Amino acid sequence: MRFFGGESESIFLKSGVLNYSHVPENVLFRDDERSVIAECVKPLLRGQKAYNLFIHGDPGLGKTLCSLDIIRKLEDYSGDVKCVYINCWDSSREYQALVDVGKALGYFFYQGKSSDDVFREIVKRVERIKGLVLVLDEVDKLRDTSFIYRFADALEGKVSLILIANDKDFLLSLEPRIVSRLSVDDLHFKAYSLQEVKEILKARCSQAFRPGAFSDLLLNRVVRETYNACDIRVGLFLLLRSVRIAESNERSKVEQGDVDVALKKLSEFRIKTSLSKLSESEQIIIGLVSASQGLVSGMVFEEYVKEGGKLTKRSFRRSLEKLERLGLLRTEFTGKGVRGQTRKIFLGGKLKYTKLN
Ligand SMILES: Nc1ncnc2c1ncn2[C@@H]1O[C@H](COP(=O)(O)OP(=O)(O)O)[C@@H](O)[C@H]1O
Ligand SMILES: [Mg+2]
Repeated sequence: MRFFGGESESIFLKSGVLNYSHVPENVLFRDDERSVIAECVKPLLRGQKAYNLFIHGDPGLGKTLCSLDIIRKLEDYSGDVKCVYINCWDSSREYQALVDVGKALGYFFYQGKSSDDVFREIVKRVERIKGLVLVLDEVDKLRDTSFIYRFADALEGKVSLILIANDKDFLLSLEPRIVSRLSVDDLHFKAYSLQEVKEILKARCSQAFRPGAFSDLLLNRVVRETYNACDIRVGLFLLLRSVRIAESNERSKVEQGDVDVALKKLSEFRIKTSLSKLSESEQIIIGLVSASQGLVSGMVFEEYVKEGGKLTKRSFRRSLEKLERLGLLRTEFTGKGVRGQTRKIFLGGKLKYTKLN
């Protein structure tokens, strides 16, 4: 048996540019959106009161990218305004988020310090500079929204808060005192046109692959699928998968069949991204059911509590119903328990064939 030999030249020049988190040098289109963000933070450069902004729109439309692009440009332009980007999914607890901001401002001695101590240090440091741009991405994942209030209140005029969420109604879920204190402008990211999707993906292809490896004809299929999904990440997923499939077959050009196989794997992308949109509790529940299918709901609840879950039994039941509606869970009545209402819980149709880790 031959394990090596006959390798064709790699199709990839730089596969990293297909990562969802890659920030390209050139952001295509979105000039209007980027000017709105820039206008919000600009007054800080003159030491004047900046604005706060709430950015919303469906996933995969460049919200994160445009915000990162503007803060990168601002930091290149001036060293007097500090920019901090926080993904609230990773730092959902107030203390962690404060420590992240503190670290970005050069404060590292937070061990044994309370939230108030850390915040006081942050204020001190911001007072020494012209201003702070604080991007709170996926802000709806913050557990304690008083974090937002702290900044708006204590650093009014010196901080520009850029809040990003998918749901345009996020602000309605905040306490009215926070919303009125924030007085945010509003920026919606709309879907890209077919032509725009094409140019974005084409630019990425020419950085990622050797010339000619991905034909225009095949790219058009990926473009159409991406346009229909209204999510650039779908295109990046399909490009990467198609090329990996071609390479595993030792070809130096992508063929139609490779794209077909990649298209079949799109459900994998959809499941991953739909799970990432769930709350932490919902993710715990899915994990528990996946580990032992067919448990009755009371036992799943007990396991959930052992894992540190905070929902009451009633909210837990509501989460189960939501997950069932999304097709991520399936329940079966056992005919036992109070009025025969006891249910066994299984992974739903959407997850049945997925290996969850
Ligand atoms: N206008 C654009 N030009 C270049 N790449 C883009 C553009 N819009 C989105 N992308 C790419 O699409 C992916 C998703 O964008 P992202 O900013 O993460 O979306 P969102 O934050 O709206 O969910 C990223 O890899 C990003 O680089
Ligand atoms: Mg984003």
